[in-house]
Amino acid sequence: TRGNSTNILWHNCSVEKSDREQLLQQKGCVIWITGLSGSGKSTLACALSCGLHARGKLTYVLDGDNVRHGLNSDLSFRAEDRAENIRRIGEVAKLFADAGIICIASLISPYRRDRDACRALLPEGEFIEVFMDVPLHVCESRDPKGLYKLARAGKITGFTGIDDPYEPPLKAEIVLQQEAGLCDSPADLAETVISCLDKKGYLV
Ligand code: PPS
Repeated sequence: TRGNSTNILWHNCSVEKSDREQLLQQKGCVIWITGLSGSGKSTLACALSCGLHARGKLTYVLDGDNVRHGLNSDLSFRAEDRAENIRRIGEVAKLFADAGIICIASLISPYRRDRDACRALLPEGEFIEVFMDVPLHVCESRDPKGLYKLARAGKITGFTGIDDPYEPPLKAEIVLQQEAGLCDSPADLAETVISCLDKKGYLV
């Protein structure tokens, strides 16, 4: 929908996505990394960006935490604000993909409906959902920012996995399962994703 914007028309430009992709020798797409806090989304996003950069591919990471410092600094963690956070990041990721860039979005994005709405923004095959399938108890034992501890103590309310829901994807393109003590290195996980992108023809 166009929300409150009326009387607006789409303006086309003669330089198209395919021209930019040809220049960059890659295909623009969105790699959407979802999972609980502490599941390793940002670490994977960074490793993926490094691995692709080393192969001469242009990437850009949109990390939920980081985007909340700027564009989304007006949003809280209430359900409707999370939905808006996800919607905005989905729209920005779509622009990056249209620029021919491999855009890596890493945010909890806990609600299936919001993620699916972002998927629907992109042409078939250009939204690659990566699920960090890490059990809550593993994320909680890592607790890199001490937030689970605060949530358990009731000092943060509405924390994903504790008193706010996380809806796992039903049909993610890639599922990265990790158990306690059985964790692949970020570089290995990134290689798994990169070989999937390769198979799908995004690295041509
Ligand atoms: S969301 O749900 O997609 O809008 O969240 P996101 O933009 O990825 O932001 C998640 C990071 O914010 C911190 N944080 C919280 N997470 C979940 N629930 C609550 N209530 C909350 N409050 C703050 C937390 O550090 C998340 O970082 P990650 O990187 O996921 O650990």
